[in-house]
Amino acid sequence: MSDLKATLNIDGNAIEYPVIQGSDGPDVIDIRKLYAQTGKFTFDPGFTSTASCESALTFIDGDEGILRHRGYDIEELSEKSSFMEVCYLLLNGELPGKQQLHDFSYTISRHTMLHEQLATFYRGFRRDAHPMAIMCGVVGALSAFYHDSTDIADPDHRKISSHRLIAKMPTIAAMAYKYAMGQPFLYPDNHLSYTGNFLRMTFGVPAEPYVVNPIVERAMDRIFILHADHEQNASTSTVRLAGSSGANPFACIAAGIACLWGPAHGGANEAALNMLREIGTPDRIPHYIARAKDKNDPFRLMGFGHRVYKNYDPRASVMRQTVREIMAELKINDPVFEVALQLEEMALNDPYFIEKKLFPNVDFYSGIILSAIGFPTEMFTVLFALSRTVGWVAQWNEMISDPGQKIGRPRQLYTGPGHRPYVDIAAR
Ligand code: SDX
Repeated sequence: MSDLKATLNIDGNAIEYPVIQGSDGPDVIDIRKLYAQTGKFTFDPGFTSTASCESALTFIDGDEGILRHRGYDIEELSEKSSFMEVCYLLLNGELPGKQQLHDFSYTISRHTMLHEQLATFYRGFRRDAHPMAIMCGVVGALSAFYHDSTDIADPDHRKISSHRLIAKMPTIAAMAYKYAMGQPFLYPDNHLSYTGNFLRMTFGVPAEPYVVNPIVERAMDRIFILHADHEQNASTSTVRLAGSSGANPFACIAAGIACLWGPAHGGANEAALNMLREIGTPDRIPHYIARAKDKNDPFRLMGFGHRVYKNYDPRASVMRQTVREIMAELKINDPVFEVALQLEEMALNDPYFIEKKLFPNVDFYSGIILSAIGFPTEMFTVLFALSRTVGWVAQWNEMISDPGQKIGRPRQLYTGPGHRPYVDIAAR
């Protein structure tokens, strides 16, 4: 603990608060005693200047465009690692050795099947239900199935719940796609990789063998790595807040899925591709940039801007390179990629975007790849949720295992009416 202090002069009193230094990034002012000492709250809607917790999982430097998981740069992880290896790293803090990775992957593969009763849950949805609505429902329903691991204070119960969630998300996601298509569900095939298994469950059919394309498998695995965790974003904060009450872990992840669905968050990948398709041709880009700058127009460039990154989102750079590779290797020429490249070029040279430090984020290019692989836009946020599940469960484990953990309960600035006596309806 440093001996740095911050002094607050309030009501004529100078009160000192400790300043705590992390291992990287901004220091924090420890104001936990502020209300008890001053009777006043801080006010920070949207938490733009608030650290909600300590965490050792992910570090982001928005000004430098840095993203690291347990100290490893996302650029290196996306190039040299695998999603299973990144899952192990996030959950355990270190990159696994060969045997550790084998054992972890084997453990995950033992949980890829769903209880047969869960398959009937899908039948209750309309075929045109948004797959994120199905994900919220089915993942939440998992909390009704595992009575053998409900004690979240037990590390072993937390571990098997975490493994079940990571293992079952691909199966649940693929089933949501199949249900929308009116095709039969495929069971997992554990001879395949985690990502290959997901691709087969999604695009395979019982009528013929499915051969995983290694190029697509690698691109998909890299996309999973890029979306795995991202500090205290809205959906992760939702999982932490839900988990802080001691709620069932499957229900907490369902809460995270609900939050991620929003177009300002994980729903932006679907919205970004829809926007690029609406623009259609490069000559229409200036009109949309003008709309994005117009204060009276609610339109925003989807896939642009970020609460933390005031530089290029490092994930977007990797994603853009992956688009080039997958287009070349699959011999696909989607004009929407050219629109994306020219939109990025024009926006990054526009004073409005430069002044507000608006750069492409992870969602700007991801939809182009996912569309090239064959996913409909409605599935894009489902894939984001599939990948982010490891981040959610790692953050949830970190919070629950913190001995100082307590229920999250923010306060407010009250602006409602003062006290007044009840008025009978006859007198109203
Ligand atoms: C993700 O938090 C995370 O880490 C999230 C995420 C993760 O991995 O978990 O990285 C994933 O959610 C990425 C973000 C995806 N969302 C979008 O692409 C939607 C479009 N972007 C915006 O809605 C916005 O940029 C946010 C929501 C991402 C960030 O919003 P902030 O930090 O609250 O910033 P803001 O809305 O206050 O914007 C600041 C200014 C505003 O103008 P002024 O009021 O100052 O005049 O920039 C403008 C905004 O109008 N602005 C944009 C814009 N984004 C912000 N103008 C045009 N187009 C945009 N995309």
